[in-house]
Amino acid sequence: MATVIGGYFTSHVPGIGHAIARGLKQDAYWKPFFDGLLPVQRWLADKKPDVAVVFYNDHGLNFFLDKMPTFAVGAAATYRNADEGWGLPVQNSFDGHQALSWHLIESLVNDEFDITTCQEMLVDHAVVVPFQLAYPDASHWPVKIVPIAINTVQHPLPSAKRCLALGRAVGKALASWGGDEKIVVMGTGGLSHQLEGGRAGFINKDYDQFCLDHLGPDPDALTKHSALDIVELAGSQGIEIVNWIAARGALGSGALVQKTRNYHIPISNTAAATLVLEPAA
Ligand code: DHB
Ligand code: FE
Repeated sequence: MATVIGGYFTSHVPGIGHAIARGLKQDAYWKPFFDGLLPVQRWLADKKPDVAVVFYNDHGLNFFLDKMPTFAVGAAATYRNADEGWGLPVQNSFDGHQALSWHLIESLVNDEFDITTCQEMLVDHAVVVPFQLAYPDASHWPVKIVPIAINTVQHPLPSAKRCLALGRAVGKALASWGGDEKIVVMGTGGLSHQLEGGRAGFINKDYDQFCLDHLGPDPDALTKHSALDIVELAGSQGIEIVNWIAARGALGSGALVQKTRNYHIPISNTAAATLVLEPAA
């Protein structure tokens, strides 16, 4: 039987990729943030997952405003990275786990989620930066992936409640998967940030702490806010928290233990956070 080893949640700010490329991890500005990833690296080295189911949002690389699926599930053999405009060095491609992708897709459609299925899919900084943080020395990515993209870009946006339900449906599908892989669930983006307009640089520490406090023990608490409430509370890109909420849903209803938590203000315009939740023994 496959095992879900837990969830790894992190911000995906492109500036992190630039800092890695420029060798700045030990600089005073960056060190407290990168040090927050050391427990994640140790956890993954210990648990050795084979597959990652990654909830994230595309930022105009694979999808643009002309065609924007609310929920899209990758079913590709390979996911190539490319530069969507931040000038980041292109990272290695990811191997897909196609059989698991199709199992998730079948199960989600059966559960009445009208997803978009992507047999070709490019992945942007929202996928590669969290992997660069998790596996800093990897010459190839040690896990296969199933990427699940949630629209956080073009309104109307899916509600936190719907994203939690999507994640729970993914968790149900993982529980019925016949393989014997070790699976890590990832949620990327957030926490509070806004990149444009009069509120550029907006950060809401209270809301971020509320999310970090409740995500594990009481994820439904995060669904009391509508998508527009979250934009108000967390900034227009802080809505990326829905990727975390979906990933949390995939961890199921059993008790979770918090293995590590880090909150660092700011990285670029973002309140950067990292969290690992593991099923209680
Ligand atoms: C920033 C944060 C993001 O989540 C993103 O996708 C792009 C930029 C930032 O704070 O610079
Ligand atoms: Fe983002």
